[in-house]
Amino acid sequence: MNRGDMIARAKEHFGKLIEEQLDRIEMMKSQTQFIDYSKLDTLVIGIVGGDGIGPYITAQAQRVLEFLLQDKMKQINIEFKVIDGLTIENRVKHNKAIPDDVLEQLKQCHLILKGPTTTPRAGDPWPNIESANVAMRKELDLFANVRPVRIPQEKINWTFFRENTEGAYAVGSKGIRVNEDLAIDFTVTTYEGSYRIIKAAFDYARKTGANKVTVVTKANVVKTTDGMFLDVAREIASEYPEVEWDDWYIDIMTAKLLDPKRRNQFKVVVLPNLYGDILTDEAAELQGGVGTAGSANIGKRYAMFEAIHGSAPRMVEEGRAQYADPSSIIRAAGMLLEHIGYTDEARKLDMALDICGTFERKLVVTGRSTGATGAQFADYIMETLSDNNLEERWREFTNN
Ligand code: IPM
Ligand code: MG
Repeated sequence: MNRGDMIARAKEHFGKLIEEQLDRIEMMKSQTQFIDYSKLDTLVIGIVGGDGIGPYITAQAQRVLEFLLQDKMKQINIEFKVIDGLTIENRVKHNKAIPDDVLEQLKQCHLILKGPTTTPRAGDPWPNIESANVAMRKELDLFANVRPVRIPQEKINWTFFRENTEGAYAVGSKGIRVNEDLAIDFTVTTYEGSYRIIKAAFDYARKTGANKVTVVTKANVVKTTDGMFLDVAREIASEYPEVEWDDWYIDIMTAKLLDPKRRNQFKVVVLPNLYGDILTDEAAELQGGVGTAGSANIGKRYAMFEAIHGSAPRMVEEGRAQYADPSSIIRAAGMLLEHIGYTDEARKLDMALDICGTFERKLVVTGRSTGATGAQFADYIMETLSDNNLEERWREFTNN
């Protein structure tokens, strides 16, 4: 192909991307209100197993949720909807990140609890389809990825608000391979998209009394998109005089999370998608490993809660899936409860998880037959939840 044709083809592709993004902005502008769960006749919770150990651990999380919600379920209709089909095999069969019928079922839910899904990489036996995670975040417009990280002994209490639909991910699978020598990807920032995530972070800082927001970009180099993100932050900050805020560049922020003198000063952190992806893995590792963190993906109409570890296909191949640790997905279930305002249940579940997984450890999940099964661990959690002295027991361990 000659140079003129190459450029024409790239321009056409680029034009389509801009059109898609302008449509997306219209869609965002039309969605002003958050759903009000208290006004629903029936609350539908989708249970999506995903791949590998996913169906095993989500089933345990569902048991714990049903247990915790048994009283509530006498007052309001809560329907659990198990959704199969978000497996790599089925996605490959339809050559889609989320097959149409699965997407339709997801859209019938209000809340989704999701196990891990395999993300094909270049070189895998699967076609290189888009990650189911990324697709779900986009399809259901789950713009806020909220990831809490706690390190009690250092008084660290971080809540990351990672933008979840834009940045390097918006058209991450739609870059242009111009010719053999030239590949171009795009990063997308919109006013609307920045506004809603930064506002969510400031609202959270105000609501929780943390009153401190750190905005992270690389606006000194990525001037147009990150520059806009930072401008929007400045604008929003002026509407929250009681909330202190500062801005950091991602490189030095990554370093400062390792600085014991500095790091417990961070409280609420808001940042574009890719920086958030990286920084939250670092933060989770400091808490005890990426598998220990939960992740909430929140939009105005839908919300999805997930474990952030992988699908461990080897455990299934070796017949050990029933020994997989359900802690992370059960934490995610706790975030689901918190999100719909069931704060009491959420707090209890957090305490039970701390007691069973960190402090008391009467049963330990090792991933093998040397340890407890996921079902036994879930039983242990439910027993602990039934203890009237749960709170005292938890305080004894934490000394506060
Ligand atoms: C995460 C994961 C995903 C992401 C992957 C699986 C596509 O790393 O949830 O942080 O990059 O967002
Ligand atoms: Mg990640």
